[in-house]
Amino acid sequence: DTAELALIEASIRDIPDFPQPGILFKDITPLLNEPEALAATVRGLAAPFRGAGIDHVVGLEARGFIFGAPVAMALGAGFVPARKAGKLPSDIIDQAYDLEYGTATVEIHADAITPGSRVLVVDDVLATGGTGRAAVELVRKAGGTVVGFSVLMELSALQGRGKMPDVELHTLLSV
Ligand code: PRP
Ligand code: MG
Repeated sequence: DTAELALIEASIRDIPDFPQPGILFKDITPLLNEPEALAATVRGLAAPFRGAGIDHVVGLEARGFIFGAPVAMALGAGFVPARKAGKLPSDIIDQAYDLEYGTATVEIHADAITPGSRVLVVDDVLATGGTGRAAVELVRKAGGTVVGFSVLMELSALQGRGKMPDVELHTLLSV
């Protein structure tokens, strides 16, 4: 609700010139350390997908892990970590994506998502959309259905939403 969203918004701290001059960094660590705001965020991320038959929540390393696991518990789903390259010990499926300079790779275990299962992707921020798009492609490669992508905060100027025309995108805040 509106009061919860106001609490969430008030718990996010602006840090100028991080990690580079000219960038205004949205720091979620105060929100994580505020019990009411943390609980409201988890509720808000899960809410549209209650009753949607979600089997797995995929959380994106690292900040997507923080919200992904409690959202999975709220939905009665399993949690699947999508990790940066080289961290997972068993057979993997991977997907490359573009960064400002160069590329990165996200990976999940090949047996983590049952083909035909219903998947919600969770992360903290949608910026350019590269990370989220890679997660969507990863889930589809594994044979899962992407039911939605739930994100705390959308940085609207970076137009990541434009990379998600075929995904039910749910964001709590647009900044
Ligand atoms: C940040 C953020 C999102 C991503 C959004 O993660 O947590 O995952 O960037 O950016 P994009 O929409 O332009 O892809 P980052 O890779 O900085 O690492 P972290 O989560 O491990 O801190
Ligand atoms: Mg991240």
